[in-house]
Amino acid sequence: MIPVNEPLLGDKEFQYVGECLKTGWISSAGKFIGEFEKRWAEYCGMKYGVAVSNGTVALEAAVGCLALEPGDEVIMPTFTIISCALAVIYNYGKPVLVDSDPQTWTIDVSQIEAKITPRTRAIMPVHIYGHPCNMEPIQELAGKYDLVVIEDAAEAHGAEYKGRKCGGLGDMSCFSFYANKIITTGEGGMVLTNSDKFAEKVRSLRNLCFRKDRRFYHTELGHNFRLTNIQAAIGLAQLERIDELVQKKRWIGQAYNEGLKNVPGLALPVEESWAKNVYWMYGVVLEENTGTDAEEFARRLREQGVDTRPFFLGIHEQPAFHKMGLFKDEYYPVAERIARQGLYLPSGLTLTEKLMNSVTTTVRNVLER
Ligand SMILES: Cc1ncc(COP(=O)(O)O)c(C=O)c1O
Repeated sequence: MIPVNEPLLGDKEFQYVGECLKTGWISSAGKFIGEFEKRWAEYCGMKYGVAVSNGTVALEAAVGCLALEPGDEVIMPTFTIISCALAVIYNYGKPVLVDSDPQTWTIDVSQIEAKITPRTRAIMPVHIYGHPCNMEPIQELAGKYDLVVIEDAAEAHGAEYKGRKCGGLGDMSCFSFYANKIITTGEGGMVLTNSDKFAEKVRSLRNLCFRKDRRFYHTELGHNFRLTNIQAAIGLAQLERIDELVQKKRWIGQAYNEGLKNVPGLALPVEESWAKNVYWMYGVVLEENTGTDAEEFARRLREQGVDTRPFFLGIHEQPAFHKMGLFKDEYYPVAERIARQGLYLPSGLTLTEKLMNSVTTTVRNVLER
């Protein structure tokens, strides 16, 4: 079976982790954390980095900085991971959903303004599968209506919008370093910002809102969202080779583009003129006239040794939210179609040309049969 993903770990990761173990700095103090935060912020063009335990809590802490009142709204795409909506709900807010652009699968920026109300506090664009969102219209709306922009750049390490790194374009940005991400810490995440106030708030939320002036005295509710020095050590080693990792992802994306370009009924990822797509996961969408949906396609690929993963199911289609009375009569046709017709192919950093040829041949066989 050709797996969807495998992390690529090297000697440096072993060396840095070994250093943590030898010196005893295994919890959330130690030199690798600050170094990883600083270097990742620099890489993305932001001033501060605050490392946290995963991407989900990075979003929760970032939204936590907004001090939402119950009923305050945050606009986001419906086509994303549940973490985005949870971050808002756990902070007493209300996610307001927008459909996707049919080409890039990111938030359809032309539909955002209609969703802005007097309760809107923020927009959360999510760079999907390695392709950036169209950020300029989002920034313009944020300026016009005085909204905070929280980028979810979990899937877009190294991706660029008009020459600037994703994760360096909002008021805050959130990352995941889960094992399937371009650089990984096993489990891990980070919030980046240029704002002293937001950085301070995320640091505080991460560490139980301990006060500096008096230990074990709390005036606000916090969390334990801390990352360990061991995880940061892995992250730093990974970051030192990020150019090579991003290049490999782009090579995989371009090789699939070439290998699959004439397959009938299959829509491939795009790269808009203003974008650098890092093809975090190589997604494809089957046209409905093929008579096959992604589930059936995945089953047939698996029979022939190719593993895949389905696309996100929209936030508005999640029973967990319907039970709360949310999004019940909402419909987003693009997100609904790609959720049913889309999947991603093996996209891991350990892929070889031979394995990719085998994937493209299998895809052709399955669809041309
Ligand atoms: C777009 C996006 N945001 C957030 C997350 C959450 O990250 P984590 O799995 O580290 O909690 C993911 C996870 O894969 C993601 O794809």
